[in-house]
Amino acid sequence: MAARIVLLGATGHTGGRTAEALAARGARPVLAGRDPARLEPLAARLGGDAGPLETATADVTDAAAVRALVGRGDVLVTTVGPFLQLGEPAVAAATDAGAVYLDSTGEPPFLRRVFEEFGPRAERSGAALLPAFGHDYVPGVLAGALALADAGDRAYRVDVGYGLDSGRGQGFSRGTLVSLLGVVLEPGFAWHGGRLVDEPAGARAWRFDAAGRTRRGLSVGGSEHLTLPGLAPTLAEVGVYLDWFGPATEVAHRLAPATPWLARLPGAAPGMARLADLVGRRVAAAPTTAGDSRTHVVAEVRDVAGTRVARVQLAGPDPYAMTADLLAGAAVRAAAGEVPGTGALGPVQALGLAGLTALAGTAGLVRA
Ligand SMILES: NC(=O)c1ccc[n+]([C@@H]2O[C@H](COP(=O)([O-])OP(=O)(O)OC[C@H]3O[C@@H](n4cnc5c(N)ncnc54)[C@H](OP(=O)(O)O)[C@@H]3O)[C@@H](O)[C@H]2O)c1
Repeated sequence: MAARIVLLGATGHTGGRTAEALAARGARPVLAGRDPARLEPLAARLGGDAGPLETATADVTDAAAVRALVGRGDVLVTTVGPFLQLGEPAVAAATDAGAVYLDSTGEPPFLRRVFEEFGPRAERSGAALLPAFGHDYVPGVLAGALALADAGDRAYRVDVGYGLDSGRGQGFSRGTLVSLLGVVLEPGFAWHGGRLVDEPAGARAWRFDAAGRTRRGLSVGGSEHLTLPGLAPTLAEVGVYLDWFGPATEVAHRLAPATPWLARLPGAAPGMARLADLVGRRVAAAPTTAGDSRTHVVAEVRDVAGTRVARVQLAGPDPYAMTADLLAGAAVRAAAGEVPGTGALGPVQALGLAGLTALAGTAGLVRA
């Protein structure tokens, strides 16, 4: 019998889409959130002829309520963000229960914390933690892993570029915009000289070609830094770059080295929190683009002399559709016992390269 899937954050934009993606796969997740009045209509709609889905009430500020959601062997999927502020209770509950944990974070400091702090705890309890299992950063890990497999032991560095082509309008959800602002002043990281080092986001920039144009991406700490070196022992350098920032790219790149000092200025952190709050109250909950955005991800592997030895390009749908399908597909596999590992796992470590390629295909993420 498949294990229980609990979806925390079901009333949000990404959580709602993930609930639909789970239902489309025949799963009957427990829908959890802080507002039962908003969970119940969703549970009735998605439950179909078999009757409403089960619901559970939990506010993440109540750690005991979050712990009550999840038991050993369950699969907990959470889309409650910003994860730096709200994510800890869910990962702690899943870790201590010995559950499988999946989340939609894209926030580098939270991701690093899951690997460094909760990963060893999960190895002891038998839990499997799969953070950032959405558009951030599954496509780059997959492209990177495929390119590394092509390169073999010539791999010295891998660069991963994320390109996003979206139509007019607000391309990101409110939750994403607030989460992005929440990490601007936070420490970043990279894999450099064969080890994980602190590095402010935006410190590096990379030009890459994807879908017919040259893009300029800014560096960010991703799952790639934390999980690709485990696949290729010769890998000394990993770069991950996002092309999302348009005309702000150059300014952000120039300001990046000053981020640690800016973050220490009196009033900087509360000022950024106020800005995030203001943005959160002004923007739409859901993206207002037509939903026809496309993601293009490129991974290039170079040898120690700087010669390119492998290149893989993937294309996929709108980041929110992709995130919902990746989370739902992975949750269903985990509930069927197909994620046997323990500790904090990268997407390849959790599912294998063939398994991840197949899962990505079901989310529309394929070689371009
Ligand atoms: N990595 C990626 O590719 C990717 C893709 C999509 C989203 N994300 C991330 O996922 C997160 C959610 O995004 P979103 O667009 O779904 O945002 P959203 O629509 O604002 O949803 C946030 C969810 O968190 C819930 N929540 C907030 N405070 C809570 C609390 N104290 N207790 C319990 N639940 C609480 C909200 O519940 P209410 O409905 O009751 O307010 C809502 O369900 C963000 O951090 C975003 O950056 C990442």
